[in-house]
Amino acid sequence: MQKFKLRKAVFPVAGLGTRFLPATKASPKEMLPVVDKPLIQYAVEEAYSAGIRHMIFVTGRNKRAIEDHFDTAYELENELEMADKHALLSLVRSVQPNDMNFSYVRQPRSLGLGHAVLCAEHLVGQEAFAVLLADDLMVGPKGGEPVMSQMAAQFEELQQSIIAIQEVPAEQTRRYGIVAGDEVRPGLIKISHMVEKPAPEDAPSRMGVAGRYILTPAVFEHIRNQSGGVGGEIQLTDGIAGLMRDESVYGFQYAGKRYDCGSKEGFLEATVELALQHPEVGAHFRNYLENLQIGWSGKERRLDKSL
Ligand code: UTP
Repeated sequence: MQKFKLRKAVFPVAGLGTRFLPATKASPKEMLPVVDKPLIQYAVEEAYSAGIRHMIFVTGRNKRAIEDHFDTAYELENELEMADKHALLSLVRSVQPNDMNFSYVRQPRSLGLGHAVLCAEHLVGQEAFAVLLADDLMVGPKGGEPVMSQMAAQFEELQQSIIAIQEVPAEQTRRYGIVAGDEVRPGLIKISHMVEKPAPEDAPSRMGVAGRYILTPAVFEHIRNQSGGVGGEIQLTDGIAGLMRDESVYGFQYAGKRYDCGSKEGFLEATVELALQHPEVGAHFRNYLENLQIGWSGKERRLDKSL
């Protein structure tokens, strides 16, 4: 059997970001910064840590800032060099390491995540590839591997498609693709059912899909052959459900935490938690929060509801 090596990652960034309007009216959701780094950079760094060097962005209108972010900032670099600001200069340059390649393809209309992935087919070719949704900010366990690295290690062994999964509250199944199947070993299931955004009573389990995938190239044919799914969009979930008829697809319960930064609540949670861990501002921010006059009450420091 041909052995796949994971070399390419697809970043679908062509969504409209309606949950973040008006911030996303003219600039991409993926450029929203969590503390000091845009969401897309967290995702690209995660892919890079997993050994991936070719980053493929599926972009849309108003997404030029992403291309600029991963390009050389000639004037800025020049100014920093002249001012002897070497630490800042290497920070700016570290965004695009020399061995990282970028490709961009446009999704002309927001026809769904599956359609966005299909737009990258000619750049992926006959290889297995990763898909990272940058609005799901994934943080690996303290001192442990980032989520895509954990998945790449599973893929190295299984050589089959793998989807990141997590347990979600029963009342939230409508927000996720939900999978069910047989446990192969702790944290790994062989998926037998997959449903996009089911009502809690229709959900086959509480295992929700998070925005990280490793897919074999056969998925493209299954995406292409589907008619529009939920909401008339071409869903990646339906393409993967098709793939499951021909190949095994696994659900991997990763170690770490996911922040849904496509929603305001998730974005705020990520901002607070990552700020608390940030080497430069963490201590100050912790002190600030502890002294914030917002009516902490009781031993557990729950917020006083009257405020
Ligand atoms: P979302 O469901 O979060 O959609 O897409 P969205 O349009 O970005 O945001 P809302 O719901 O309107 O606020 C999940 C991921 O798929 C990409 C998005 O950019 C996001 O990373 N996507 C979605 C596309 O690239 N193209 C699409 O047609 C749809």
